[in-house]
Amino acid sequence: MFRRTLSASLVTAIGITGPVLADPILLRFSHVVAEDTPKGLGAHRFEELAEAYTNGAVDVRVYPNSTLYGDRNELEALQLGAVEMLAPSLAKFGPLGISEFELFDLPFLFVDIEAVHMLTEGPVGRALFDTLEPRGITGLAYWDNGFKIMSATRPLRVPDDFAGLPMRIQSSQVIAAQMEALGAVPRVMTLSETREALETGWVEGTENAPSNMLSQSIYEVQPYATLSNHGYLGYAVIVNSAFWNALPPDVRSNLVRALDEATDYANSIAAAKNAEAITLIAQTGTTELYELTPDERAAWVAALLPVHERMRQRLGDKLVDVARSTLGLPDLASP
Ligand code: LMR
Repeated sequence: MFRRTLSASLVTAIGITGPVLADPILLRFSHVVAEDTPKGLGAHRFEELAEAYTNGAVDVRVYPNSTLYGDRNELEALQLGAVEMLAPSLAKFGPLGISEFELFDLPFLFVDIEAVHMLTEGPVGRALFDTLEPRGITGLAYWDNGFKIMSATRPLRVPDDFAGLPMRIQSSQVIAAQMEALGAVPRVMTLSETREALETGWVEGTENAPSNMLSQSIYEVQPYATLSNHGYLGYAVIVNSAFWNALPPDVRSNLVRALDEATDYANSIAAAKNAEAITLIAQTGTTELYELTPDERAAWVAALLPVHERMRQRLGDKLVDVARSTLGLPDLASP
């Protein structure tokens, strides 16, 4: 931990000759995943850079794996100032009364990660951050995890395989609609509850990025996984606005610099961490990993595309239209 030294003039004024230390500004960064994941590593990189660039004026403490706050209470803790920074999944803003981030949960919306960045790095990304301000939250960056795979106690090859299957989901109504479109039964629960719920049979399957499937030991209780890449998982790095706005301007700009670099780093390792997770899961032999055939994939797409129209009202016509035109997709109303 670094300490901020008082200015030389202040030291002289109060007649102290040795170095005088002031308390650093504490920045608590809480998240729900393991350290060896794209988000966990990004948070750690931010901690190192923020402390270095501010010369120790800021003391960043990262709390991974829901050790400080979990999915159920972290947003409220941020609003109350009990924690300064979070990076929740974009699927988790609904309980705050903001449904628009669930745009990113639409199945088969993105052809690749560059398409995601066309939204996060443009007007859509900024407009979504604007919705946070009235809640006392400031959005600073978008971090990727990657594309999700499906896992279960039975093989998932065609939509009919999902019939009646209880599936753990994040708290997103778009993801709930996605599971219902497949014939599954969505059950919302926190990430920290998921492994146990799968073990006891309360849910029999789930979706997630491979890095979470591995680091939460979900694969141990899921004999089948389909490398469907049907949806995106990413994060919004957010801060308590009152904390952020009260920072000395030089400290704030150094934190922005640290976060910009941590963002580049997190986004640059995300795909490799997920590819590595798939390899490691395959090596354990617990889970049969399945690639969809082109026909099977077409059947998933046909079953899931109607979710875009069904969720249009929840997400807002304007947002959906702007997102689709940014991505070069045809208007939903056209045939
Ligand atoms: C989940 O709850 O499954 C994920 O959103 C967790 C995360 O932050 O990656």
